[in-house]
Amino acid sequence: MDTKSLSMFVVVVVVSSIYNLKGGSGEVIQCIERERQALLIFKQQVLDPNNSLSSWGSEESKSECCEWRGVVCSNTTGSVMRLDLGRIPNRPFDRNGLLIHNLDWLSDLSSLLVLDFGSSSFTQSLETIMFRNILTISSLKEVYLRDCDFSRETSSIDIYANSTSASLSVLDLSGAGLTSSAFRWLFNISATSLVSIDLSFNQLDGPIPDAFGQKFVFLEQLQLSYSRIGGGIPRSFQNLTSLKFLRMYNNNLTEPIPEFIGTMASMEHLDLSHNPITGPLPQSVGELSKLEALRVSFDSLEGEISESHLSNLRSLKILDLSYNSLIFNFTHDWNPPFHLDYLNLAGCNLGGPRFPTWVYTQSNVSDLDLSAANISDELHAGFLDSLPRLGSLNLSHNHISGRLVDLSSSLFRNIYELDVSFNDLTGIIPSLQSKLMRLNLSNNKFHGTISFVCKSNFDKLYLLDLSNNQLSGKLPNCWENISTTILSLSNNSFSGEIPNSLGFGILALYLDNNNLSGELPSGLSNNTDLFILDVGGNNLTGNIPKWIGELGNLINLNIRENNFFGNIPPEICYLTEIQVLDLSRNNLSGRIPPHCFKNFTYLAQKRSEITKRKVLLYNFSNFLLQTRIVVQWKGQEHEYSNTLPFLRLIDLSSNTIEGNIPAEVFKLEGLRSLNLSRNHLTGNINPEIQAMLSLESLDFSKNQLYGEIPVGLTTLSSLGVLDLSDNNLSGKIPSGTQLQGFNASVYAGNVGLCGDPLPSCPGDEPRPPSHHNGKLDNDEAYTNQSFIQEFFISMMLGFIFGLWGLIGTLLLNKSWRYAYFNFLDRICVRRLFFAREH
Ligand SMILES: *[C@@H]1O[C@H](CO)[C@@H](O)[C@H](O)[C@H]1NC(C)=O
Ligand SMILES: *[C@@H]1O[C@H](CO)[C@@H](O)[C@H](O)[C@H]1NC(C)=O
Ligand SMILES: *[C@@H]1O[C@H](CO)[C@@H](O)[C@H](O)[C@H]1NC(C)=O
Ligand SMILES: *[C@@H]1O[C@H](CO)[C@@H](O)[C@H](O)[C@H]1NC(C)=O
Ligand SMILES: *[C@@H]1O[C@H](CO)[C@@H](O)[C@H](O)[C@H]1NC(C)=O
Ligand SMILES: *[C@@H]1O[C@H](CO)[C@@H](O)[C@H](O)[C@H]1NC(C)=O
Ligand SMILES: *[C@@H]1O[C@H](CO)[C@@H](O)[C@H](O)[C@H]1NC(C)=O
Ligand SMILES: *[C@@H]1O[C@H](CO)[C@@H](O)[C@H](O)[C@H]1NC(C)=O
Ligand SMILES: *[C@@H]1O[C@H](CO)[C@@H](O)[C@H](O)[C@H]1NC(C)=O
Ligand SMILES: *[C@@H]1O[C@H](CO)[C@@H](O)[C@H](O)[C@H]1NC(C)=O
Ligand SMILES: *[C@@H]1O[C@H](CO)[C@@H](O)[C@H](O)[C@H]1NC(C)=O
Ligand SMILES: *[C@@H]1O[C@H](CO)[C@@H](O)[C@H](O)[C@H]1NC(C)=O
Repeated sequence: MDTKSLSMFVVVVVVSSIYNLKGGSGEVIQCIERERQALLIFKQQVLDPNNSLSSWGSEESKSECCEWRGVVCSNTTGSVMRLDLGRIPNRPFDRNGLLIHNLDWLSDLSSLLVLDFGSSSFTQSLETIMFRNILTISSLKEVYLRDCDFSRETSSIDIYANSTSASLSVLDLSGAGLTSSAFRWLFNISATSLVSIDLSFNQLDGPIPDAFGQKFVFLEQLQLSYSRIGGGIPRSFQNLTSLKFLRMYNNNLTEPIPEFIGTMASMEHLDLSHNPITGPLPQSVGELSKLEALRVSFDSLEGEISESHLSNLRSLKILDLSYNSLIFNFTHDWNPPFHLDYLNLAGCNLGGPRFPTWVYTQSNVSDLDLSAANISDELHAGFLDSLPRLGSLNLSHNHISGRLVDLSSSLFRNIYELDVSFNDLTGIIPSLQSKLMRLNLSNNKFHGTISFVCKSNFDKLYLLDLSNNQLSGKLPNCWENISTTILSLSNNSFSGEIPNSLGFGILALYLDNNNLSGELPSGLSNNTDLFILDVGGNNLTGNIPKWIGELGNLINLNIRENNFFGNIPPEICYLTEIQVLDLSRNNLSGRIPPHCFKNFTYLAQKRSEITKRKVLLYNFSNFLLQTRIVVQWKGQEHEYSNTLPFLRLIDLSSNTIEGNIPAEVFKLEGLRSLNLSRNHLTGNINPEIQAMLSLESLDFSKNQLYGEIPVGLTTLSSLGVLDLSDNNLSGKIPSGTQLQGFNASVYAGNVGLCGDPLPSCPGDEPRPPSHHNGKLDNDEAYTNQSFIQEFFISMMLGFIFGLWGLIGTLLLNKSWRYAYFNFLDRICVRRLFFAREH
């Protein structure tokens, strides 16, 4: 479904209250007749099949329009204050553009000051006439048309510019599909009094015309984020002496930031992040004494940054210099004039291996990101005690040493987000602040048990990543009290049984590569939201439990390298969403359950219907939560982190599974890798194997398969890895096909098999010199390229929607939402950010 039509429909008309007072004290307020007539015209124009506007009408009984559904009047003047149809469930405006052609009724609301059609669902087919009609209402001061789609009229838009309301001061045309002609149009509008212009999320490209700054000299806010605007900040911006807010996040600005920026003395908020801006940060920036936010992250700034860049920024609260090539050179005892709330120096060259001393002075800072900044210091109480308001701390990807246990009192006062992953921290993990929401201690040298989990009384923790440490002991059994969503304890030395409480509310559970023993606890069966269960590389035993079939949202089930035995239970067939099924290297026996694998919807289909929005949401949630996945792919272990290419694979290798391979396995169109090697499988390779259109890797080696290699195998154009060795296959390898391109070893150990690349069959002509097509040499190229995209298109839909509420909440946190801004598509950003900010 179109996301726009999903968007909430909101029409708000606010009418000024300059009408004569109708109701004196004690009198019932009545709506104004002229406005009532206008609203009736409005009703006539819209399609309303479900009669949502039934309370609206010309009948005597309905004369009080202030009581109509969605209408809110001023209780002093009776004039309509709001027309709010967003809460009417059956949107009456689905007939495209109907409202748009005729807005007469609007001009009857002659004192209209503020018009907000923003993000409404009927805006898809707005036409020029609507645009003109709205903008020419002479009283209008503020117009919000965000997410209306004017993309089809950008060529004619400027015709009407000269009749625009001269009193217009706020114009929001963000997300309106505008191209660079909008700049031309703006030049010709009669309104020169504009104070705020928002053209973000359009397709503006090329440079901003220089005259811009000469026309709108009263401009206080200019928002041009998320377009493709090139060039630099035009010279004429020197004239914008009232400009307070310049936001050009995510464009294609390349020219250096001009020196004159320092003369724009009103500037409070400057955001030029995510642009390929080169050159230095001009020293004049330091003269902007009213500046509260300076954001230039992910630009290509270079050169030195010293005290003079920041020396007069007395009002600065937000400083984001992350991911540039700036080299810091501050004197040791520099005392900045500002007290920041937010400081992000990730990826910066801090000019030395220590925590910068000036950061100690920032006693008000609540968000601090010094990740990937080549810090080799010790994490010590002095540093943390100087930052008592710290809520979010990211020190990951440095060489920081020290012990958390020495700091527990100073570190954990207000902290709700702590990421110290990829450092050299050591010691045991102490009890931590119970308000923590995200805790990432992975990739350090912590040892000892994790009894802190129960002692800390976490009740908001949604991410706990302790992977890649030297932790040991039994897993505590208090997980029912902890709302963890993502839990990773991978690559430690935990032993003992998996506690029954584990899994409670967890969506992704990584326990792989430990020494856990015993059976899978039945408590996991209660958690039907689980979408990743990875217990590979332990010493678990028992049967694969029947309740596994209750985990209907599982996408990845990995029990590789354990001691599970017995049959593969038919209940596994209920895992219709499964995309990675890895049961390899256990002691499983019996047959592959029949009429089962065809149930695996995502493996059975070549393409699943997944929209870009879901892909982006996945990408985003993955980035935020740092979910990882370890898979066996073409015989090697691969760990995927942020770019998680998704594999659709089944691996049952190295068990003692017997019987035929069910025919339906050969119909899994979406499967990319199938490994059934090292079992006791018998029977033929199904001649209909050509249905496996996505297959890139097929390993049937070391079984007792017999019969001929089906010709169908030759049609699988993506097949890059094949191993049929050590079976009882016979007959001639289908000739003149890609099967000749594989090394002879993939057919070895089949006494009856003959023909190129094996010795020729009895009675055949001697084989010509072979033409190896280099498939094996290109193996690595195959390995990642062809399915990286696909991963994003196929992963965890249930998860995304289940988690989205959570992520939405998290986005309210300003540091996170800013840092991950770029991972959202335009629509998500607008819904989440602007809906809350406006
Ligand atoms: C209008 O009515 C509401 C609710 O009865 C009341 O809270 C509000 O103060 C009134 N406003 C004025 C301006 O009288
Ligand atoms: C009208 O209401 C019915 C039942 O509530 C609903 O199924 C239908 O989609 C609605 N139609 C429109 C156009 O909203
Ligand atoms: C605006 O321009 C159009 C064509 O350029 C013209 O027809 C119209 O009269 C102008 N309106 C005003 C108010 O100047
Ligand atoms: C802007 O208006 C001027 C005259 O008022 C006209 O010559 C010019 O063509 C207009 N520009 C655009 C882009 O319409
Ligand atoms: C500022 O505006 C004036 C006219 O309004 C113009 O003459 C001057 O060139 C402008 N300055 C810049 C730097 O564009
Ligand atoms: C960005 O600008 C450069 C020239 O400065 C241009 O070559 C490139 O195509 C632009 N990129 C986009 C995405 O518009
Ligand atoms: C840092 O700045 C001082 C002057 O303030 C200068 O002497 C020194 O060379 C600079 N250091 C580096 C590494 O550039
Ligand atoms: C620190 O923040 C508090 C509350 O946000 C504020 O009242 C106080 O003035 C700030 N202190 C400094 C030195 O900026
Ligand atoms: C990191 O810091 C060390 C000294 O602590 C230095 O030798 C090394 O060059 C730095 N690396 C980078 C990438 O700046
Ligand atoms: C599942 O949860 C219910 C209540 O939430 C509990 O009574 C039951 O024991 C749980 N089952 C298992 C196997 O833990
Ligand atoms: C695995 O568990 C079995 C008992 O189930 C035990 O005998 C064996 O020593 C364990 N192996 C390891 C490596 O811990
Ligand atoms: C899946 O397989 C099971 C067992 O063979 C079968 O009962 C069930 O109907 C199949 N379909 C679904 C959607 O689970």
